[in-house]
Amino acid sequence: MREIILKQAEIAELFADILARGGTFSFRAHGSSMSPFIRNGDILFIEPVEAAALKVGDVALFQSIGDRLIAHRVVSKNIKRNRVVLTMRGDAVSAFCELATPDQVLGRIAVVRRGSKIIRPDRGIPGLAARLWMRLSPAGPLLIQLIRFGKRGGGCVLRRLQSLKSYRIFIRKMVGKKVRYRIATTEDSILLEKIYGHTISSNPGNLVEKHACGTENKKVQSFTLIATVGQKFAGATFLMQFPENQGHFPGLWFFGMRVLTLYRGIGIGEGLVRMGLKTASENSAAKVNLLIFEHNKPGVNLYRKMGFQSDSIHGLDDLLDKEVRQGERRRIIMSKHLLIKA
Ligand SMILES: CC(C)(COP(=O)(O)OP(=O)(O)OC[C@H]1O[C@@H](n2cnc3c(N)ncnc32)[C@H](O)[C@@H]1OP(=O)(O)O)[C@@H](O)C(=O)NCCC(=O)NCCS
Repeated sequence: MREIILKQAEIAELFADILARGGTFSFRAHGSSMSPFIRNGDILFIEPVEAAALKVGDVALFQSIGDRLIAHRVVSKNIKRNRVVLTMRGDAVSAFCELATPDQVLGRIAVVRRGSKIIRPDRGIPGLAARLWMRLSPAGPLLIQLIRFGKRGGGCVLRRLQSLKSYRIFIRKMVGKKVRYRIATTEDSILLEKIYGHTISSNPGNLVEKHACGTENKKVQSFTLIATVGQKFAGATFLMQFPENQGHFPGLWFFGMRVLTLYRGIGIGEGLVRMGLKTASENSAAKVNLLIFEHNKPGVNLYRKMGFQSDSIHGLDDLLDKEVRQGERRRIIMSKHLLIKA
């Protein structure tokens, strides 16, 4: 396929032509000026519209200074010398307004696609929230900052609590019985992708060719283990079987252990490790390994409690030393020998 690189003005011309013929087009949003309503990476679907038909609250694509294409919200609409003049502003940037005349307007953002979610920016709850947001402005962005700050503060307090053994005992009694464990299925793929930020193969015993540990293109067998509390996802880990005596990761490995902050201390990490060890035993594994940052106290404590010990693997040790020489944090190998059932 031939790749064509277009300038902003040429793209605008192309888009204008498509819209003039009654067509629609979509593109990926870059930047955060429309946060929280449109996020970086969202797919925006544009439909043709006359500038005069745009309403306050609509999100429109227009050609800004220097031919830049911008999707911002219409915050006011006026008639000057028989011409519609729109005031456009990003939701996140309360101080930044720009005027747009009809010849600058290309179209209206009809639909926003975020993962599997479809959002109409001008209708339903998002539309109502956006109008409220505009009324609140400039307090809106400030409010979001305050909520974020509050969340961060709340997170800090929660983590301090979770580091207390007495809290862990208490919360286990309260919530422990509601936790369920299972091997992930393909239906969990989207959720796992959201949590980990990359594609996860979630077929039990599936062969995957790529994962996060730099061993691309080697076939490995993997199990993704999931914990839920009620209907909610709470944590996951991967168990991966690599060919023995090959590469830096011989044998069976735990990777990507993660429990969502809210659910830490309940015993979910322990439950996932226990399930992983059971799966390993059922697959006749003699040993399970993992890598962990040396100073990750909760993680190291968890694995020690489950019987893992510091280990050394020829070749991988050199790689970990090299990471430290390159200024990265020290990772250590921990492993546990399993009893092979006769
Ligand atoms: C590490 C992690 C998986 C632990 O999961 P968890 O569900 O909170 O842990 P559990 O409730 O099962 O606790 C099991 C044991 O881990 C240790 N532990 C858990 N949280 C701890 C904490 N905050 N401080 C010290 N030790 C802790 C304890 O030994 C605990 O046993 P105990 O309560 O009987 O003392 C979780 O904190 C996490 O997801 N962290 C971020 C990702 C990560 O670091 N992953 C591990 C490296 S790959």
